[in-house]
Amino acid sequence: MSAGRFITLEGIEGVGKSTQASRLSAALDRLGIGHVVTREPGGTPLAESIRDVVLSAREEALAPTAELLLMFAARAVHLANHVLPNLHAGRWVICDRFTDATYAYQGGGRGLSMDTIGQLESMVQGALRPDVTILLDAPVQNALARARRRNAGAPDDRFERERVEFFERVAMVYRARAAAEPGRFVIVDAAQSVDAVGAQIIGELKARSWIS
Ligand code: TMP
Repeated sequence: MSAGRFITLEGIEGVGKSTQASRLSAALDRLGIGHVVTREPGGTPLAESIRDVVLSAREEALAPTAELLLMFAARAVHLANHVLPNLHAGRWVICDRFTDATYAYQGGGRGLSMDTIGQLESMVQGALRPDVTILLDAPVQNALARARRRNAGAPDDRFERERVEFFERVAMVYRARAAAEPGRFVIVDAAQSVDAVGAQIIGELKARSWIS
C-alpha cells in the first residue's frame, strides 16, 4: 500500500486552523479517503502530557531551550507512535501544526538559532517533511482578537500571554518560510469566509491530483 499524504496546517493563534482541519477531514470522509486528524504539540497521550508541560503557565520559568527540546520530544513521540504508523498504513495525516511552528515560535518568537532547530529537525524526522503545508495568513491583530474572543474566560497559556510583537515575529518567519518553499507551502488568506478558505484548500489538493 502506498504511503498516505502528510498535510500540515500552520498560522498564528486565531486563524482557524482547527476549523479547517475538521472541514478537510469531513471532505476526505465524503471521498472515502482514510485519514487521521492530529495536532502538535500532542497527538498521543504521552505527547499530550508533554504539551501540558510546555503550555501550562507555572511559577517556575521554562527556559526557551527547554521549550524547544520539549517541542521536539513531543514530536518524536508523536511521529513514532501515531504519524508514521498511519502514513505507512496508507492513511493521510492532517496535522494542526508541525515543525514550521518550531521555526516560527521558537526561532522567530523566542529568537533561538534556526540552525539548531534544523539540526533537531534532522535528528527527529530524518528526511520526513510534510507533503503540503497550508499557511493560514491574516493580519496579526485580527487573528489575536479572534483567538481572544474564542478563549474568553479560559486562562491564557504560555504563548497566549505573549505580546503582539512576539506574534509579528512568528508571522514573519511563517511568511519567509512559505516564500522559500513555494512548492510545499500554500498561503491562504484566512480573512476570507470559512467556506472560501475550505474551498481553496480542497482546490489545492485537486490541483495536485490527490483528489478528484
Ligand atoms: P494550539 O494548539 O492552540 O495552536 O497551541 C499550541 C501552541 O504551541 C501555539 O501557541 C504554538 C505553540 N507551538 C510552538 O511554539 N512550537 C511548536 O513547535 C508547536 C507545534 C507549537
